[in-house]
Amino acid sequence: MDAFHVIGPLLRLLPPETAHGLSLWALSHGLAPNATDEMMPTDPLLMSRVWGLNFPHPLGLAAGFDKDARALKALLKMGFGFVEVGTVTPLPQPGNPKPRMFRLAADGAVINRFGFNNQGLDVFAARLEAFRGTPDGRGIVGVNIGCNHPTTDAAIDYAAGVSCCAPLANYLVINVSSPNTPGLRDLQAGERLRELLEQVIVSRDTACAGGRRRTPLLLKLAPDLVPQEREAIAGVVMDSVSGSSAKQESGIDGLIISNTTVSRPHTLQGRHRDEVGGLSGRPLFDLSTKVLRDFYRLTKGRLPLVGVGGVGSGRDAYRKIRAGASLVQLYTAFSYYGPALIARISEDLAQLLREDGFSSVAEAVGADER
Ligand SMILES: Cc1cc2nc3c(=O)[nH]c(=O)nc-3n(C[C@H](O)[C@H](O)[C@H](O)COP(=O)(O)O)c2cc1C
Repeated sequence: MDAFHVIGPLLRLLPPETAHGLSLWALSHGLAPNATDEMMPTDPLLMSRVWGLNFPHPLGLAAGFDKDARALKALLKMGFGFVEVGTVTPLPQPGNPKPRMFRLAADGAVINRFGFNNQGLDVFAARLEAFRGTPDGRGIVGVNIGCNHPTTDAAIDYAAGVSCCAPLANYLVINVSSPNTPGLRDLQAGERLRELLEQVIVSRDTACAGGRRRTPLLLKLAPDLVPQEREAIAGVVMDSVSGSSAKQESGIDGLIISNTTVSRPHTLQGRHRDEVGGLSGRPLFDLSTKVLRDFYRLTKGRLPLVGVGGVGSGRDAYRKIRAGASLVQLYTAFSYYGPALIARISEDLAQLLREDGFSSVAEAVGADER
């Protein structure tokens, strides 16, 4: 029994944002359980190489849990194959008024409308830089970037985040899919997306000029996009890969699918189901996997995809991989079940891969589409 089994139920008696704040505080002060050798997934079958990075296993922590990069060491030691921090915006901002996070325990779900509350880029980058200077600082860390609300020019905000974090991150994420910043998801639309991506790609290429490793640049998408929007986005992204302009050396390196949904499946039981915000967890699984599968087809398997939304078991992770994900992330199930979940999902995933005769994660990526 790990410490979470004792503390977890107590945390659940508190309002969810208070419980989350306490967990992060404990993690950042070294009060959380470190992974023992038993907890840390080490099965060679799960190792994979994506964007030239060696992932010990494909299961990572999704953005939003550690918005200010406070607890990287503890989260990586807990056994995640990689951790995505943020969303960070150039300037600090308080986010929406509380309450803004709601548990739907019977549904295995959460609704949140945080609205990019964070301490801003300066504090964030200083923490990440300090972490990189420690003996544990070599873990795989993604940085999820957003824009302030209000902002006069979203592209300038994203470009600032990219320039600042490119040398510190193993990958960067342009988050245009949070439902809690007014107007943000409109940036996913065809021509606006093309312009935005051109600017952030130039920022990334400039920040990584002079022989420095080019930090992979990913785009995180909403699950609520209709088929025509998905086609348009795939077109823009694939153009960025194959038709790099004179200004830019390269394109988008991957997609994260998906963020939370503004839809409300009729099966929801929790009394908070009608709160405004993004729904995550189990009820998001089918929708986000469908959109993931669609993007795998639209991008012809040429772009690594990260599958996220409702993953709570090895079978869920396996289904994301078979639908086209090279890597998988989770947040909500982790907040309900704690660190022991990481090893359980990894072990079950390895077993499922073996049962179907795969000798690596990479072999199984998109298997349902072949
Ligand atoms: C409380 C909460 C806060 C979140 N904050 C962010 C965020 O700041 N940036 C982001 O890109 N995604 C954010 N997300 C979305 C998650 O990264 C993830 O895409 C989504 O929750 C689906 O995964 P899950 O079903 O495993 O939770 C947040 C999710 C939750 C539950």
